[in-house]
Amino acid sequence: MFWNLLFVVIVTLLRSVSAAESVAVHDAETGLTYSQNFALYKVDGRGITFRIAIPSNVSSNSAYDVVVQVIIPNDVGWAGLAWGGSMTKNPLMVFWRGSNNQPVLSSRSASSHTPPQLYTTATYILFNTGTKSNSTHWQFTALCTGCTSWAADGGAVRYVQPNGGNRLAFAYSPTKPSNPSSPTSAITVHDVHAYWNHDFGTARNAGFEAAVQRLLGSQGVRA
Ligand code: HEM
Ligand SMILES: *[C@@H]1O[C@H](CO)[C@@H](O)[C@H](O)[C@H]1NC(C)=O
Ligand SMILES: *[C@@H]1O[C@H](CO)[C@@H](O)[C@H](O)[C@H]1NC(C)=O
Repeated sequence: MFWNLLFVVIVTLLRSVSAAESVAVHDAETGLTYSQNFALYKVDGRGITFRIAIPSNVSSNSAYDVVVQVIIPNDVGWAGLAWGGSMTKNPLMVFWRGSNNQPVLSSRSASSHTPPQLYTTATYILFNTGTKSNSTHWQFTALCTGCTSWAADGGAVRYVQPNGGNRLAFAYSPTKPSNPSSPTSAITVHDVHAYWNHDFGTARNAGFEAAVQRLLGSQGVRA
């Protein structure tokens, strides 16, 4: 009984803290303004910061690119962002650090609550700028194409709407993938998952395209 009650209290704490409002954050390094939410995974206050920037000129019910910047405590084994706010039938961005501590991004999707498969419809380009680490955290900044639209059951197309709030979800595991330098590595189930409402209205950037071209650097190409 006590343990059940304690569990409920902890889960409630985790839920309420991670349901905090989105805040707008300007990051001078990447030159973009992000809508940010903090997703708590430990009651001691540890959590993952998710930042999203989108173009200003996109309309509802359309697909568009996003820049995602994530700040991750070094004890995270793997974590993931579900662009459609649930584990199944939406693009999952899964991330961890490789054997040289390099960021590894893995695009996945799942049709049930079993290990997600690779999902090649959503692709990520990792930027050098905005990707770094120190003794407590690491962070990456990436461009995603294919994260804001996907095919749901029965053929309906779903969108992450650019005008207001969208439910997003994350999952956290303390366990590193078995083959950490490979984006196709197996992963084991998460310890924590949670949802929040992420404001996309404040994620809009008039200079999105120009910033992305700068971040892509001399290559100047999009995958
Ligand atoms: C080995 C990989 C994985 C396994 C075996 C797994 C398994 C499961 C299981 C069994 C549940 C149900 C838990 C419950 O009902 O309490 C669940 C829920 C969930 N998982 Fe996973 N999962 C995996 C990876 C992921 C990843 C990569 C993400 C996100 C990026 C994710 C996000 C979620 C979310 C948000 C839920 C809540 C229910 C839902 O929204 O569908 N999972 N998972
Ligand atoms: C938005 O603006 C950019 C840069 O001017 C342009 O390349 C893009 O096609 C525009 N997108 C839409 C949906 O109008
Ligand atoms: C470590 O890096 C994170 C993410 O970039 C940053 O938020 C934090 O302030 C840094 N800490 C120190 C001590 O520099």
